[in-house]
Amino acid sequence: MKAIVLAGGSGTRLRPLTHTIAKQLAPVANKPVLHYAIEQITSAGIKDIGVVISPETGSQIKQSLGSGEKWGAQITYILQSQPAGLAHAVKTGMPFLGNSPFLMFLGDNLIKEGVSHLINQFLGQKPQALILLKEVEDPRAFGVATVDKGMRVKKLVEKPSNPDSNLALTGIYIFDPLIHRAIDRIKPSPRGELEITDAIQELINMGKKVIARPMSGWWLDTGKKEDLLEANRLILDESTTLSNCGITDPASQVSGSVQIGTGTTIFSSIIRGPSVIGEDCCIQDSFIGPYTSIGRHTTIRETAVENSIIMENCLISCVRRLEDSIIGAGANIRQKKKKTDSTTLFLGNNSEVVI
Ligand code: G1P
Repeated sequence: MKAIVLAGGSGTRLRPLTHTIAKQLAPVANKPVLHYAIEQITSAGIKDIGVVISPETGSQIKQSLGSGEKWGAQITYILQSQPAGLAHAVKTGMPFLGNSPFLMFLGDNLIKEGVSHLINQFLGQKPQALILLKEVEDPRAFGVATVDKGMRVKKLVEKPSNPDSNLALTGIYIFDPLIHRAIDRIKPSPRGELEITDAIQELINMGKKVIARPMSGWWLDTGKKEDLLEANRLILDESTTLSNCGITDPASQVSGSVQIGTGTTIFSSIIRGPSVIGEDCCIQDSFIGPYTSIGRHTTIRETAVENSIIMENCLISCVRRLEDSIIGAGANIRQKKKKTDSTTLFLGNNSEVVI
């Protein structure tokens, strides 16, 4: 079985971050979202992976994943010249996919449970498509499925305003090669895209076997700020173990699951886990609270930070308290030398400041 990972798209809901980085490369616990998908795919035994990229961010994705060697995989890059939908991405990937069944994974999705169970179910039940579903409170922003008692899929609708069920299509699917024929039969949706949801519905219309697997663990589509922070919390909660490769002075306290990278110095500060601090950072007279990830080469002085993602090369000084924040690489936030009531900003397009 092959895998196709979708890593194109513009990421408008994650601006301003996505002016400079691909949404799939946003860091969660100091690791790009996309790397979690590649890890889960390769640890389920799939090593032949096609990654669909866009002209805008393709080079960053290539730089981040390389040849796939790091995961013992072979990555083939597939350029999708315009964002014309998930089914269009599969169509573009045809030369790579050939006649193989394949797992499709949206590169901005994160799931807890990995994909091995899904693959085993597909190989055991031999459907034409297997989709992974998650019960959500409001499914209107997703593809929505109606299933029978035996988890056979009866109907699929993309982003319905009146959903028939609360079962959302996560961004993880397995297909047999018949999906290509279904894709050839569909037309662009009202948003102008060739929807994979419509192609799977077409398989159902053709009388083919489409089954669903309900998901028990968490699932996040990291396309928005709140989702990225939640992903950061969940991953930190589950994966951080205590490892301190930095230098901590006696006036500092490190408690809970905290990872500190080499070359990092902690002076007169409290670090509370779960948190991760990258390499070559300097934390001084600060409180780094639970659920915070700090990228490498970042300096934080006289500031409390909680539930936040601070990327690399930032300087944050005397800001009192930062929470629920995402700060892009190279940002500089500091207090004025002379205290005034005014705030001075120098922000890129689509920035958000809550004072
Ligand atoms: C896409 C799919 C949708 C699915 C979602 C999962 O939506 O079209 O069916 O529920 O991914 O993340 P999009 O991200 O294109 O809005």
